[in-house]
Order: sequence, then C-alpha cells, then structure tokens
Amino acid sequence: MKEYMLDLFKKTYGSSDGVRVFFAPGRVNLIGEHTDYNGGHVFPCALTLGTYAAVRKRKDNKIRMYSKNIAKGNIIERNYGDFSVTNKNNWSNYPYGVVWALSQKGIHLEQGFDVVYYGNIPSGAGLSSSASIEVLTAYMLREIYGYKMELQDIALMCQYSENNYNGMNCGIMDQFASAMGKEGHAIFLDTAKLEYEYAPVNLENKKIVIMNTNKKHNLGTSKYNERRSESEAALRSLQTRLPIKSLGDMSAEQFEEYKYLIDNSVNRKRAKHAVYENQRTIQAYNALVANDIERFGQLMIQSHESLRDDYEVSCRELDILVAEGIDCKGVCGIRMTGGGFGGCCVSIIDSEYVDEASAIIGSRYEKAVGYKCDFYTVLPGGGPAEL
Ligand code: GLA
Repeated sequence: MKEYMLDLFKKTYGSSDGVRVFFAPGRVNLIGEHTDYNGGHVFPCALTLGTYAAVRKRKDNKIRMYSKNIAKGNIIERNYGDFSVTNKNNWSNYPYGVVWALSQKGIHLEQGFDVVYYGNIPSGAGLSSSASIEVLTAYMLREIYGYKMELQDIALMCQYSENNYNGMNCGIMDQFASAMGKEGHAIFLDTAKLEYEYAPVNLENKKIVIMNTNKKHNLGTSKYNERRSESEAALRSLQTRLPIKSLGDMSAEQFEEYKYLIDNSVNRKRAKHAVYENQRTIQAYNALVANDIERFGQLMIQSHESLRDDYEVSCRELDILVAEGIDCKGVCGIRMTGGGFGGCCVSIIDSEYVDEASAIIGSRYEKAVGYKCDFYTVLPGGGPAEL
C-alpha cells in the first residue's frame, strides 16, 4: 500500500521525494448505538480497513488535497487560513476542518502541505470513513509538523471539528475508535468518563461479518441531530426531579420508575432506548469477557429491535438484513451498526456457515430490495500508523 500511495502522490503532484505515508482505521460498533452522546457505553473496534494518506510539507502556505475516491475529482487548493466551509468538494471539509480545529487549539501550521488520500472503507456505509480521514489528518500533521498531542486528544479534537466545522453533532465513539484502535481488541468505552478497557475479541470458530445495504445514509446528519435533541429534551424532563447528568446515569429500573416525567411520548421512547442500550452494552462486554457469544448475539438482536422501534433510526433495508439473518443457520447475532438510516449491519456468524448464510441473505435481500448487498468478513485492527 505504501508503494501505491507514493505512486499516487507522484502522479498527482509530479514527484514523491520526501513523501510520508500514513493510515487510520474505520470502525465497526459491536453494540452501544446512540449512547455516546447520552453519556453511556459503546463497544466498537477499529477495522483493518481505513484511509491512507501520502503527504509532504510545502515551502509556501498552500494546502492541496486530492482524493482517489472521488471519481473525476480535482486537486483542491486553498491557502492556509481560508477556513470557509465549502459546498463544492464536500469531502475536503473533513480534513480541512481538522486544520481549522488545530488552529482553534493554537496550533498554526507555518507551511502548507500536499496530500493524496485513498480509502478502502465504503463511504456512506456507517463505518466511519469521515472519522478515519479526520484522525488520519490530525495524526499525519502531528508527525510531520512535530506538535505534541496524545491520541485521545486527537480523537477529541476531531470530534470538535466534526461538530463545529461540519455541523454533525456526533459523539466521541468514531474518532475514539479510530485513534485508539488495538489489533484483535474491541474498546469498551464509558463516554461520560472517557475511561476504557480493551477486550480481546476471541471468537474462535466465529467471524464478524459486516453486511452493507448499499443504501447511503444521506439523510443521516439532520435525523441524527434531531435524535440528539430529542434525547436531550428527555434528559431535561428527568432532571426536573432527578440529579442525573446524562441518560447513561440511569438503570432500567430507575427509568421505569421515573419515565412518567417525560411528557412527550416520542422523547420517552428515545430515552428508553438510550438507557436500555447502555445496560445492554455493559452486559455485552461481560458476555464477551466470559466468552458467552450466544448471549452477546442475543443482546445484538435486542439492540436492533430497540433502534428500530424506540429510537427509529433503522430503515427497511437494514430490517430486511436482520430479519433474514435471524432466520439463517449459524448467525449468532446481527444488528444495524453506526448512525443508521442506511449503511451496514454487523453480525457474528459461525465460520462454517459464513458462505451459506451470506448466499441466502444476499439473494433474499436482492429479491426484496431490487439491488445487491455486500458482505465483508473483518478483523479488529490497530490505530493510526506511519507505513
Ligand atoms: C455516528 C456518530 C457516533 C455515534 C453513532 C451512533 O456514527 O458519529 O458518534 O453516535 O452514530 O451510535
């Protein structure tokens, strides 16, 4: 991949002398969905799929960016300090947002740079291609400009950038999973305290299989921000009587006792999901540590039902994959993963049934939806690195 990136750089900018190549991963969330901005737990792992960059400092203050993933894309050029958000070349707002966020932290780049990006995560699939390009950009700039920033602070800065530069009020999960990934492990993260444990993913005779609906989650941002406001409104209703900081502070029993405080029935459902999903995530972590994959799989299915019925972030395509998956021999657990409204499911399947289950689910999906879904068997990968 290093050679490929150097070659791409040379084709784009003329020479590849002094160019360095970096990588940052995408992520898949095993369980704990829409809990990160509700002060709950999440349980993602970084993937071996991700985004690559070949980069070189310039002598002037120009910043040039090119993405191999954009068909017929051009080199995008700006002067350092032009921090306007552009509608054209939308993708460049993610890495450029990071340059802006650095400047907000008082880190000003004294020279510009040339960069080419290439990612092998399907975009719009809910596998955090945006977090991976953000973390990659912060990491590579740290390495080439030599400023100090811990990986966890890189994650926080990238979230800040996505919230404030890109207008997506995301939680910390994606950037954290990308920046803090560890090969062979999932990250059990308490988003309220930013405390985490790495849990080995020893599935023995089972595999993690991602199923991509190939329906892009285009409406994602506005619906996502809406869900976040609904959860916050529910929290405010509960806070009229309870000294809680977030929905993640509540047990299921406590929620049942006090849910009457939330007058709005939609907001009540949103809060129910956030509270129960957080509890499920803690149980799923314990199940994985105890090697009880059956239990883990059941919790995944309950998670999907809650996202579908109470949080209402699923869609027909995701529901079809889950319904077909549950019916298939060898499938231990399956659920939508990421923000929702399209994107992917994550499943755990007995190794010997992966092919059979994929063939059955794939053909039933195509029949019902009219186009194909894709399957990827994935492994938990490490964090950002120089190649
Ligand atoms: C998106 C956001 C994350 C998280 C998930 C849902 O991926 O970026 O912060 O909220 O949705 O769990």
